[in-house]
Amino acid sequence: MSFDRDIGRLETHCSKYSAMEAMFGIDPNEGLGMWVADSDYPSAPAVQEALHAYVDLGGYRYGADEAGYHAAITWWQGHRHGWTIQPDWIVTTQGLGHAIAMVFDTFTEIGAGVAYFTPVYHEFRNKTLRCERRPVELPLALIDGRYQLDWDRAEAAIDPGVKVLIHCAPQNPSGRVWSVEESRQIAEFAARHDLILISDEVHADIVYPGGPTHVPMDVAAPEHRNRTITLSAASKAFNLPALRCGQAIVPDDKLRAALQRRLAMTEYKQAAPGIVATKAAFSPEGEAWLKDQIAYLTENRRIFDAAIDAIPGLWSMPLESTFLAWVDFSGTGMDHEEFTARLRDDAKIAASPGPGFGTGGETFARFNLAMPRHLVEDAVARMQRAFADLQ
Ligand SMILES: Cc1ncc(COP(=O)(O)O)c(C=O)c1O
Repeated sequence: MSFDRDIGRLETHCSKYSAMEAMFGIDPNEGLGMWVADSDYPSAPAVQEALHAYVDLGGYRYGADEAGYHAAITWWQGHRHGWTIQPDWIVTTQGLGHAIAMVFDTFTEIGAGVAYFTPVYHEFRNKTLRCERRPVELPLALIDGRYQLDWDRAEAAIDPGVKVLIHCAPQNPSGRVWSVEESRQIAEFAARHDLILISDEVHADIVYPGGPTHVPMDVAAPEHRNRTITLSAASKAFNLPALRCGQAIVPDDKLRAALQRRLAMTEYKQAAPGIVATKAAFSPEGEAWLKDQIAYLTENRRIFDAAIDAIPGLWSMPLESTFLAWVDFSGTGMDHEEFTARLRDDAKIAASPGPGFGTGGETFARFNLAMPRHLVEDAVARMQRAFADLQ
């Protein structure tokens, strides 16, 4: 099976291995990369074939003609997520980090507050700081092993200088999928405080059967679309982040025009490989492969969670979506430094440190499971060795 194939480590231009030594102090020849949120197995055959055909043309000309790409995204959102969108709502960006920065830049001033529910994707804070805006944390409550919105804390944390709420749906980390009712509460909170609402839905395509269903923010709360910008991409589910292609889907004409005007000032133009790959991914063939991937990840998770939960003091949160395991080590009594030192020196695993995800992440680490099965088994064996004294 193609998911069993390791696509390589060093000299593949991937940050997971090439930046491992600098970021974690782990020699990449010995280390196991479980931090960056991309996959260590190949993308879908439909994507590979489309990119091969493009490369075989032999020239890399200026791009145009995005009609087929827009049609593929429109089909995908309707078919998979029950969201009817218009092709001209799609604003293509150079990935979602770029989209987030451009939204900050278009709609807020330097110093504006940017709020988000924590623990959350560490780059929400980093991007906010790089854009010289002010991060404002809205901590979630962890109740019976599942994150819940904590409106008392959120209302207490917000202030009039906050202009944007960036929401991760589903949530990275933890894989929490939000209900329609929760999404509506979030949109109403944004409206009450007059915030631009960024709904980052990049993880929407890897949701596990048997759990809650992802519903796009614009489906849950369409009456708030005058302030809502939804972010989407094929990059996570189809392992395409190097192609730097993302979409801000903006139903509101005024919001969209403002964002497009700002993007035009930066002379930003989308490159054809990302368009070609996204169009191929968001297809019936892409969907069939995605279902196989979700089944493969389900077994990766089962193996990883069973082994982690068997180590006294460790607990891997049951995932509703994403390939990012969220492991709590509070039961070991170790502090972050000790746990991290064991990961680095004994397990030689590069995993994302929980504190970077903000309040609530202090006793956690995030492990990417989008890898061939034998690497998950290797990870488990490394963890068992590194924490053998607890067993
Ligand atoms: C929630 C979320 N948003 C955005 C990104 C980054 O997207 P991009 O690579 O398109 O900048 C990630 C990557 O892990 C993510 O998890």
